[in-house]
Amino acid sequence: MPTLAIIGAGPGMGLAIARTFGARGFDVALLARTPRKLDDLVARLGQEGITAAAFPADVLDRPSLTTALQAARVRFGSIDVLEYSPAPGHSPVPGFTMAVPSEVTVDNLQPQIEYNLYGAVTAARAVLPAMREAGAGMLLFTTGGGSVHPIPMLGNINAAAAALRNWVLNLHNELAGSGVLAAHVAINTWIGEGGPEGIPSATPEQIAPLYWDLYERRDQAEVVFNARRGAPSTFRKAGCPARSPRPCRQPPPGERPAAGNGPRATAAPSPRAAGGPAQSAS
Ligand SMILES: NC(=O)c1ccc[n+]([C@@H]2O[C@H](COP(=O)([O-])OP(=O)(O)OC[C@H]3O[C@@H](n4cnc5c(N)ncnc54)[C@H](OP(=O)(O)O)[C@@H]3O)[C@@H](O)[C@H]2O)c1
Repeated sequence: MPTLAIIGAGPGMGLAIARTFGARGFDVALLARTPRKLDDLVARLGQEGITAAAFPADVLDRPSLTTALQAARVRFGSIDVLEYSPAPGHSPVPGFTMAVPSEVTVDNLQPQIEYNLYGAVTAARAVLPAMREAGAGMLLFTTGGGSVHPIPMLGNINAAAAALRNWVLNLHNELAGSGVLAAHVAINTWIGEGGPEGIPSATPEQIAPLYWDLYERRDQAEVVFNARRGAPSTFRKAGCPARSPRPCRQPPPGERPAAGNGPRATAAPSPRAAGGPAQSAS
């Protein structure tokens, strides 16, 4: 069986992505800080016939991340898809604050870089050599919409997420033709219930299928998920028309928008959708 490793496996996106891949024949390795919460997810997936196992790790403790991924490979035999999406939720991460761009300091930016970029780089380095040797594999990295369209109140958080996005897009370029694919997912909505009035939201179950879509298509560097309250969710890929009602394919590099690698988001991101701290259970 192929194996999906989710780094930052929680009850929101982590569980939904695990279900999406697990229902299609994947075993699932779940990585996060809290063993009790991981065990609960393992049990829930087990009840649905999905084989999962817990590997406690903290993305800010890079050796623990590498060790956990090694243990997952030993347990399942390989890691075929890696998905990186840690989020603080209701478990505060020490040193995390929000800062507008003019108030960004090395001190308030560094933890965000450690969390977003260094953790992702560490995870990729733990699995990429085996994927390259196999000539197959997928690396998926998730951020909020602010990695593409930053908002001032998240100056430090968005900068770190944008750094992750830039690195993923370039990893995608480097890996072209290798059989291994790297891709970035920007979720430009509030996830779950309890978002501010007027802010677009979507459930993890609405968002998770785009990860499988990425896996199956194998030709996308990036997807931006947009949703509008009361309207169907849309999958937005680089170069697609705004509010495209269906998934569409990324155009060749020469046809991409001149402003950069990424697509335009259709909705102004909320602080949380832009990558800010969660304010409700997720
Ligand atoms: N929630 C939103 O509204 C929103 C909006 C836009 C984008 N996003 C993106 O969506 C992804 C998260 O989805 P979600 O909010 O539904 O989260 P989730 O999958 O429900 O949970 C994420 C999990 O990450 C774990 N985590 C936190 N800090 C960690 C650390 N230092 N090391 C390892 N694991 C850690 C937490 O478990 P432990 O506490 O046990 O470690 C948490 O349960 C992130 O990529 C985020 O940027 C979220």
